[in-house]
Amino acid sequence: MKKDINKIINQLVEDHKWLEKTAMKYLEETKVYYVDNKVEYEKYIIPFLRILEEELLMPHFKFEEETIFPLLHGDPLIDELGDEHRDVKDLLNKFRTSQGGIEVLEELLHLLDRHVKKEDEKLSSKLHELTKKSDFLQNNTIS
Ligand SMILES: [Fe+2]
Ligand SMILES: [Fe+2]
Repeated sequence: MKKDINKIINQLVEDHKWLEKTAMKYLEETKVYYVDNKVEYEKYIIPFLRILEEELLMPHFKFEEETIFPLLHGDPLIDELGDEHRDVKDLLNKFRTSQGGIEVLEELLHLLDRHVKKEDEKLSSKLHELTKKSDFLQNNTIS
């Protein structure tokens, strides 16, 4: 399926909306229960994090790494974002395997928040710049 850069930007924005308005919001609102009832909380939140990772985060990271990052190959921002993807995976794993408590979950939420904002501002504007290069659009097909 052929997609142009505007479609790619739209997908980026849509995925981020889901992530911020559903998953991160839910984690932010429920994390207070950790303090009073760690065992019960983990019973629900660990399967939730697994679904979040498998159904939303990993497909989203894959989309960015395979479709978006190659368009901006060589840009230092791409290395930075790739490192942050790895840090997100590490933190998810750390929390799930009980190697860290609520601090790890909070660190994960802060990282995701910063990461998504950075992509919405810097990555999107770099993609918009690409669309302005008309010869790029004329001579390239992104699949
Ligand atoms: Fe990302
Ligand atoms: Fe993203």
